[in-house]
Amino acid sequence: PPVATLKAAAPFPMGSAVTSNGILNNYYYQGVLLTEYNSMTADYEMKFDITEPQQGTFNYAPGDAIVNFAALHHFRMHGHNFIWHQALPAWLLTFQGDAPAWENVFKTHIQTEAAHYKGQVASWDVVNEAIRDDNGQLRNEDATPGDGTGSIWRRHLGPDYIARAFVYAHQSDPNALLFYNDYGQEWGGIKLDSMIALVSGLKKRGIPISGIGMQMHIDINVDTAGITSALKRLAATGLLVHLSELDISVNPGADPNITFTSALQLKQAALYQFIAETYRASVPAAQRYGITTWEFCDADSWIPAFFNRKDWPLPFDAAYKKKPAYFGLLKGL
Ligand code: XIL
Repeated sequence: PPVATLKAAAPFPMGSAVTSNGILNNYYYQGVLLTEYNSMTADYEMKFDITEPQQGTFNYAPGDAIVNFAALHHFRMHGHNFIWHQALPAWLLTFQGDAPAWENVFKTHIQTEAAHYKGQVASWDVVNEAIRDDNGQLRNEDATPGDGTGSIWRRHLGPDYIARAFVYAHQSDPNALLFYNDYGQEWGGIKLDSMIALVSGLKKRGIPISGIGMQMHIDINVDTAGITSALKRLAATGLLVHLSELDISVNPGADPNITFTSALQLKQAALYQFIAETYRASVPAAQRYGITTWEFCDADSWIPAFFNRKDWPLPFDAAYKKKPAYFGLLKGL
């Protein structure tokens, strides 16, 4: 029999975050991607700091490389993202302007990028990570000055900026499916309540929102009951549910002497399986936008660099070989 693949096994699109460097320059990377996946998300190439490095000057070359590869190989292309408090070009950090000037920056960026990718990108994460972890309020730089959790967008644009981001994106690309994307749904509590209130409120007002992205940057100590209940509550909104950035850390405590033991490998594999099974069981088929891993090879994961620790969060090892995590995921699909 033919060898099983993730995309053949999954009853929904199977995605990965990808870099333009990986798809253009790395044959191992291309090989795994083309064999296993049928959806892709740009890892960083479509974020604000890359796409508008100077005000009014747009840079689409890295994103276009990904989009062209996606089209050539018939992948679904998911756009990521227009608005995120962590992807700001230098000019925006020092931008001086009144509320209308800020609104113009915000609107121009969303509408210009959405228009550029119209017809090539099936869906967008319109706003990413707008909600605080601790109290479910919108991030607002004034609330916690200097702690890195704030958002200049909320500060300058007022509380309804998220709705306007969706409206602007929709005006430029009426066919794109539009998502609100965030992390921490599996914790339950105030952050999940707040995300559900946000997306339900937008939907009720007729704002063009199609789905919610549950990033799923989790670790092996995750409370699995929290994942199940979050998926059920998200599905109950009636919106599409995308597991948009899945990876499973095995070293959340940042142990510098850790090795990736077979016990850890098996625990990680069981969790990958659980997530695929729970997604299928908890989200009705028509609302499953798919599962996307954040990259697929441990050597390309953002986690070791971002958190400065050893880790092995993905289904393929650093040599692009299948790990137990891969087989767990495959089994759960
Ligand atoms: C990460 C990318 O993988 C890195 O290359 C980049 O330096 C920082 O961002 N949540 C998100 C993603 O929504 O955009 C982040 O991606 C990972 C966390």
